[in-house]
Amino acid sequence: MTDYFEAVKTRRSHRNVKPESPVSDDRIQEIVEFAVKHTPTAFNAQGGRVVLALGKHHEKVWDIVKDALKEVVPEKKWDKTAQKISMFKDSYGTVLFFNDESVLEKQQEKMPLYADKFALWADQTQGMLQHIVWTAFATEGIGASLQHYNPLIDEAIRDYFNLNESWTLHAQMPFGAIKEDPGEKSFEPLEKRLKVFK
Ligand SMILES: Cc1cc2nc3c(=O)[nH]c(=O)nc-3n(C[C@H](O)[C@H](O)[C@H](O)COP(=O)(O)O)c2cc1C
Repeated sequence: MTDYFEAVKTRRSHRNVKPESPVSDDRIQEIVEFAVKHTPTAFNAQGGRVVLALGKHHEKVWDIVKDALKEVVPEKKWDKTAQKISMFKDSYGTVLFFNDESVLEKQQEKMPLYADKFALWADQTQGMLQHIVWTAFATEGIGASLQHYNPLIDEAIRDYFNLNESWTLHAQMPFGAIKEDPGEKSFEPLEKRLKVFK
């Protein structure tokens, strides 16, 4: 239990990481595979989808983000935005998290009673999947952050990776060897957030 709590606490947002990894690509893949396999899903539907992008594929993700942002970010804000995207490109890899909408639709057809709940549950399982990868990375000394340039980049990402149209992008997680301390984190008082009755 202590190890698990320690892992949960060790996970932080590391936005500025190194373009290298403390562990092998095989180990990174193993972590992502484990998370995809073991994350719980409503009615065990298993609609979460993941792309692990390394090397030139990782770089392409951030080129796509940059191109998409160039179309919408005002000129005077561009330098700051471009710098931020370069920082993410200068990571080691990116995990892309998707939901397969065709799984969701099948669930809605099969169980109309819960039709309006499946999208919500798909979101919740996304969060669990992302957290498992993020936390497992932390235990291996990999720093990662959670970014959301979807839906702006969905189509270009789908085209580049040749993904099914039913895959909708939920989050992008750039990662790499830890470069700097993430800094102090403030916490709201637990008494305000948790009620215990015993
Ligand atoms: C659902 C969710 C969405 C988030 N979206 C972003 C994001 O788009 N960009 C970003 O830099 N951080 C994002 N974050 C990171 C949070 O800002 C961060 O987790 C929070 O400030 C606590 O810091 P910590 O991750 O270091 O514990 C997101 C976190 C969560 C849980």
